[in-house]
Amino acid sequence: MAHYFEERPESASRPGSVTLVLPDLHLRLETDSGVFSPERVDQGTRILLESVPPPPPEGDLLDLGCGYGPIALTMASRAPAATVWAVDVNRRSVDLCAANARTAGLDKVRSVHADEVPEEVRFSAIWSNPAIRIGKTALHEMLTRWLSRLTPDGAAHLVVQKHLGSDSLQRWLNEQGWPTTRTASRSSYRILRVGAR
Ligand SMILES: C[S@@+](CC[C@H](N)C(=O)[O-])C[C@H]1O[C@@H](n2cnc3c(N)ncnc32)[C@H](O)[C@@H]1O
Repeated sequence: MAHYFEERPESASRPGSVTLVLPDLHLRLETDSGVFSPERVDQGTRILLESVPPPPPEGDLLDLGCGYGPIALTMASRAPAATVWAVDVNRRSVDLCAANARTAGLDKVRSVHADEVPEEVRFSAIWSNPAIRIGKTALHEMLTRWLSRLTPDGAAHLVVQKHLGSDSLQRWLNEQGWPTTRTASRSSYRILRVGAR
């Protein structure tokens, strides 16, 4: 079965588009088959974007697992002087996010494969609708890799569904030394704030 987190989706391209409507933003985003939630902006993503505090105005920010870019583009429009790294392992997603940023005129979005972010870059904010479906071990590895790159006063905001394990993820993050609190709860979604360790 095909998964949205494949590196090179083999499904035939089926271009589409969605609209992202937030109180401060109205964007049309191009999508395609083989990427996450191509028919509409995911509800968890929307809840994250409606409840997260404003990003730091400058520095390096990260959207971990950018898909076609709703989170990265929102970060960039709320923090126009910041550099927003939009990373994914799915090449089709990386390309779509880059194209969507170009169309929106958000030229400080760097949409790249997860292995292409320069080693020295540190993030003052990470926003993510993380790929829970990659499995617990891969999820923990991915979060460890990127949360370790928070600046000392930086914070990550993650949206996770309760039935996909938000409580156990919160527990695990705290056990690993990342102070994690639940800052919002809407329908089945939880927003976790993770501080640097
Ligand atoms: C739940 S989707 C969210 C996509 C997008 N941010 C959104 O809100 O529509 C998670 C994304 O993480 C990506 N992903 C999976 N494993 C990853 C990894 N190890 N590193 C970075 N991104 C990954 C997937 O390809 C997918 O695009």
